[in-house]
Amino acid sequence: MSQFPADFVWGTATSAYQIEGAVRTDGRGASVWDIFSHTPGKIKDGKNGDTACDHYHRSSEDIALMQELGMNAYRFSVSWPRIQPEGKGRPNKKGLGFYDRLIDQLLDSRIDPYATLFHWDLPQALEDQGGWLNRDTAHRFAEYAHILADAFQDRIKAWITLNEPFVVLTLGYALGQHAPGRTLLLDAMPVAHHQLLAHGLAVQAIREISRSPVGIAQNLAPVIPATDTDEDLQAAAHMDDLHNRLFLDPILHGEYPRSLLALLGEQAETFIRQEDFQMIGSRLDFLGVNYYAPDHVKASSTAPLGLETVPMLDYQQTGFGWPVVPEGLTQLLLDLKDRYAEKLPPIFITENGCSYPDAPDLAGKVNDSRRIEFLERHLDALGQAIEKGADVRGYFCWSLLDNFEWAEGYTQRFGLVHVDFQTFKRTPKASYYWLQGYLRSGKWRR
Ligand code: NOJ
Repeated sequence: MSQFPADFVWGTATSAYQIEGAVRTDGRGASVWDIFSHTPGKIKDGKNGDTACDHYHRSSEDIALMQELGMNAYRFSVSWPRIQPEGKGRPNKKGLGFYDRLIDQLLDSRIDPYATLFHWDLPQALEDQGGWLNRDTAHRFAEYAHILADAFQDRIKAWITLNEPFVVLTLGYALGQHAPGRTLLLDAMPVAHHQLLAHGLAVQAIREISRSPVGIAQNLAPVIPATDTDEDLQAAAHMDDLHNRLFLDPILHGEYPRSLLALLGEQAETFIRQEDFQMIGSRLDFLGVNYYAPDHVKASSTAPLGLETVPMLDYQQTGFGWPVVPEGLTQLLLDLKDRYAEKLPPIFITENGCSYPDAPDLAGKVNDSRRIEFLERHLDALGQAIEKGADVRGYFCWSLLDNFEWAEGYTQRFGLVHVDFQTFKRTPKASYYWLQGYLRSGKWRR
């Protein structure tokens, strides 16, 4: 069994739109996800986040579940349209009040709050002005970050500016599978740059007020070529640039990977200003890594960018059809260490988990044995990476609760706790009790 430092951070993770519900309560404005999820045909089960897990009204119960689980941290996101219903201007006191109480309750329960500022629910009012295609959104984000830093100061244990900017770029603006549903392909690239700029500006805005560490959460993946032909190797290298370097090189190296600049051609000059890189490269206290599975890539003459991802059929699959590849986590962490060397800050695994459809049986038990195996193997893989020198300070399991899984609606269940979306009853799954036993045993301590 792998072992971790005694001060290792253990947490669960969620995000506002996926769990809160109460979308019209206490002055909250509309977000792009409200509009998108109410557009027919966009969400698999035709549902939306209007009530989700009703966490807005059940946060005490959910914190009690975390406490019982024995974790010392919780990563949640703040809903920007609760704080600034129109995406700018003075904060909405009632919106701030919800998080203020949440933070207090967490601290009273000896759970450290890790706050994500943007987990995809952009105020619709900003989208109406172009959203992340508009450079001004980066400045609006810094203003919002300043409001939060001012309101919560050092009560937040660590700040996470953006969650998975790569997914916002690709699924949100290039391919249209997520809000705001734009299908701009390569013309979506300003979305990458403006999110990076927003990140840098927010780091600065937070540091003006709060002493707590600031980082960013990125979904990263080792890229595995489908075969070792030159075409597939090249496709894999290109995917690596896009998926792993597009949002990390500018932050840690101060520039975009060359191959991506070549891809953008002259278009790049229209939205990239040289002086932006100083802001984007603001010192990062930690890197949040969300890991689910590797990218298995082959060349394709018909797909956009000349590459496509293909299934890894030799591996077990989760309910989502994602391959279970724990060794990919070890590889990813060691690759990051090689690539960025002394520039790489300490890492938190800000998300890792799996979806399986297990529901309560007749006795009311949820026997999600596949999740237990998934967690056991990924913790082991993480321990191995640490043993080989990766500087990882904590692990957040996605997710505390089954929740609104974006375009999949409620069809993918990632929770350690089962949620009945009719009654909102929470039922801890076998994996929850397994994790509780694991943490209580103390055997994970080095
Ligand atoms: C990453 C996202 O941050 C989160 O919102 C999502 O639910 C999980 N991955 C699972 O897909």
